[in-house]
Amino acid sequence: MSHWQELEHRYFMPTVERTPVTLVRGQGVWVWDDAGREYLDFVGGWAVDSLGHCHPVVAQAVIEQVQTLIHTSNQFYTIPQIRLAELLVKNSCLDKVFFGNSGAEANEGAVKLARRYGKLHLDGADEVITANASFHGRTLAMVAASGQAKFQEPYTPLPAGFINVEYNSVEAIKAATTTKTCAVMLEPLQGEGGVNVPSKGYLAAVRDWCDQAGILFILDEIQTGLGRTGTLFAYEQYGVEPDIMTLAKGLASGLPIGAILAKDRASVFTPGEHGSTFGGNPVACAAGYATLKFIIDNDVAGKVKRVGRYLASGLEKLKPKFQFITDVRGRGLLLAMEFNTDIAQSVVMACLDRGLLVNQLKPNALRFMPPLIIGNQEVDEALAILDEALSTID
Ligand SMILES: Cc1ncc(COP(=O)(O)O)c(C=O)c1O
Repeated sequence: MSHWQELEHRYFMPTVERTPVTLVRGQGVWVWDDAGREYLDFVGGWAVDSLGHCHPVVAQAVIEQVQTLIHTSNQFYTIPQIRLAELLVKNSCLDKVFFGNSGAEANEGAVKLARRYGKLHLDGADEVITANASFHGRTLAMVAASGQAKFQEPYTPLPAGFINVEYNSVEAIKAATTTKTCAVMLEPLQGEGGVNVPSKGYLAAVRDWCDQAGILFILDEIQTGLGRTGTLFAYEQYGVEPDIMTLAKGLASGLPIGAILAKDRASVFTPGEHGSTFGGNPVACAAGYATLKFIIDNDVAGKVKRVGRYLASGLEKLKPKFQFITDVRGRGLLLAMEFNTDIAQSVVMACLDRGLLVNQLKPNALRFMPPLIIGNQEVDEALAILDEALSTID
């Protein structure tokens, strides 16, 4: 174990099982450890490093902003957050924006907004229906929203007001809807819970149901947004528009940021009802603007669709060779490979030894979420390493 890793064990709360490598530098889709070894990065900061590491347009925007104005508080108008809000609104189906610092915070705010809407328009309705296997963040309320027992059990009792129902079943949502329901909150494609793709017509049926019931439809696009699944926002692929959408992760290519977007009719906060000290911070927003502008101007989402298909077909081709691969699924550059046994960690380590970083999604599954700027050549390199790594498993 390296010096840094020993210090980490001494000083850190052990909330995460880290892969035993200390990263010190990144460029594009490559990172380097403290011994100078290079790795192809298919973890991408957990779907955060959208333009890769230290992309020049992001680095330049951050440098200029830290030399101009780092922070002021939201007592004042600042330009980077207004520019980013305008770009988001002009390129989505939503009308208004609130900035925070993380995904969980964005989702908390979205639920607060839905509850506020419930108080104003739905006779005080305050419950939010979410799906099993969803993941919406680590705050207490978002743990309650996330339909996964492993995140909930250590922290009971959980905040009330969340009903977790079967995923991919509009009937389950209908059955759970009561006069107390103010919203349904879903990930268009479940990320953390397994890279689960919605069944045909599910999201459209949920949208219709929300309209019929007069409740809000919240889409958590924290993992799927900003080009990750092959369109700027995943909702575009399913013919639906949410009333509220949350973003974070890839929005600023690595700087901490979160955002709530809402249609005008759902944008019901009034001054003092919500807030954040760092939310809309000029540096994070400058990075966000540079990232989003680059994604839009260079049709990064279209490229993700093509390279994502190429990666998915390469992963599929490994199936006949390795009978223990049971499934390859996902969209764009959010893909998973599932095995019939718990070998994911061994594959992660075998890849690491060969210079490829991949994420263990579950004990029996890997997740691939490289920077969106990756090309076919790097995909070929990753597939060759993965092939070799899988060959070491008996
Ligand atoms: C869909 C989704 N929502 C919310 C979150 C929480 O985001 P954060 O870790 O920034 O709080 C995540 C993180 O993985 C996520 O994938």
